Amino acid sequence: MRILRTVDEVRGTLEGPRRAGRRIGLVPTMGAFHDGHVALMRAAREACDMVVVSLFVNPAQFGQAADLARYPRDEAGDAAVADEAGADVLFAPGEAELYPPGFDTWVEPGTLAQTLEGVARPGHFRGVATVCTKLFAIVQPQVAFFGRKDAQQVAVIRQVVRDLNVPVEIVAVPTVRGPDGLALSSRNAFLSPDERARAAALPRALEAGAAAHRSGGDVVQAARAVLADSPELSVDYIEVADFDGPALLAAVRIGPVRLIDNVRLG
Ligand code: PAJ
Repeated sequence: MRILRTVDEVRGTLEGPRRAGRRIGLVPTMGAFHDGHVALMRAAREACDMVVVSLFVNPAQFGQAADLARYPRDEAGDAAVADEAGADVLFAPGEAELYPPGFDTWVEPGTLAQTLEGVARPGHFRGVATVCTKLFAIVQPQVAFFGRKDAQQVAVIRQVVRDLNVPVEIVAVPTVRGPDGLALSSRNAFLSPDERARAAALPRALEAGAAAHRSGGDVVQAARAVLADSPELSVDYIEVADFDGPALLAAVRIGPVRLIDNVRLG
């Protein structure tokens, strides 16, 4: 696996394979790899000839500088994981490579980005949409892989590529969970063992919502009933929305951490 730092290196490396008609897959990430990221890389490995994993902690999608500063970083460890998962290229640019002085053009997603995570994190999806559009332009993959864990992000990215005629297929990969059902996330590392045990109420609540959906009950109420038993989880939102298909989505705070998760309905 090659580690590349610049746009020019990526272009140069992919030129030959592209001309030879190779199918190029992109997995955009911010690093701190866990088995959720690995699932995306494996899906890309299965479906593509060249797998490019990008690793860039995108400042534009963080609201608070403190959040950005404490984002976990371990490039050497990540490189080993990506290599093992079958990536051909790890594109890990510095900040100035993607946002050089004078950078001043943004991709502003519309209505889809103005609910749920968009309310909680103003400007977040603008940062995500901008960096993903740049990565699509740099790598020019035929296909890009995103996790359903971030269902609203998948929906926003699908809308961006549709609206801007970006010739890339978006594949959504199912959420990878721990044995207790908690969706894997780099943020889980900030949970104490006690908080981690309590956080499992989130996937339990979503499952209760999904079960209520199957039996014709009130989805949100069923999920809220489970969360009501866990007062240490403070609910940011729990709502049904159509993001790449109907889903029950929730965000909760526990200790210092904000967790998001969702289940598909139907
Ligand atoms: P990051 O949080 O690193 O996630 C990279 C990809 O991994 C995303 O598509 C995310 O949905 C997926 N992912 C995370 N946890 C997962 C899990 N438990 N199961 C399956 N997939 C999971 O999302 C971002 O980075 C950024 O917003 C990015 C798209 C890279 C733009 O900067």
